[in-house]
Amino acid sequence: MYLTNSPEETEAVGERLAAALQPGSVVALYGGLGAGKTCFTRGLARGLAVTDAVTSPTYTIVNTYRGTLSGIGPTDIHHIDAYRLRDADDFVNIGGEELLAGDGVCIVEWPERIARCLPEDAIPVAIGLKAGDKREIRIAGDTAGYDDCG
Ligand SMILES: Nc1ncnc2c1ncn2[C@@H]1O[C@H](COP(=O)(O)OP(=O)(O)OP(=O)(O)O)[C@@H](O)[C@H]1O
Ligand SMILES: [Mg+2]
Repeated sequence: MYLTNSPEETEAVGERLAAALQPGSVVALYGGLGAGKTCFTRGLARGLAVTDAVTSPTYTIVNTYRGTLSGIGPTDIHHIDAYRLRDADDFVNIGGEELLAGDGVCIVEWPERIARCLPEDAIPVAIGLKAGDKREIRIAGDTAGYDDCG
């Protein structure tokens, strides 16, 4: 669990997760409006050597970037925002299942909207709003202890 005090610190936590990803990894980013999911994704994309600016895919649903998985090579990074989808059927209709099943890395905001499409081995990340600019970030399987980034 991490406690961050700024967007930059949340990005840094995201950046660290990049080393744990493999072809086909799906990262499910839970957290309410403004929790910092896109911010976390920006850091994660940096860790994957994405050089394009990462913006919220709220209206496009999916933004795809070219990145690099260390030890593997160039990889598509799909940043998905399911907020505006009604349900998982909507996601299936736009070809979402193919994205999740492919070799690229998928990072999903509002994954609860497409719960039944998520693979069992998706990596859950939960970002909670705390007082002020503090955020609590839990990454499944990350055994690093309580870590105040400030
Ligand atoms: N510690 C922090 N970590 C992340 N963001 C922070 C932090 N402190 C303040 N913020 C602010 O919170 C906001 C997070 O916005 P962001 O777009 O990343 O959220 P989101 O979870 O993607 O929201 P949405 O559900 O609307 O897509 C930004 O304005 C950012 O500057
Ligand atoms: Mg967002």
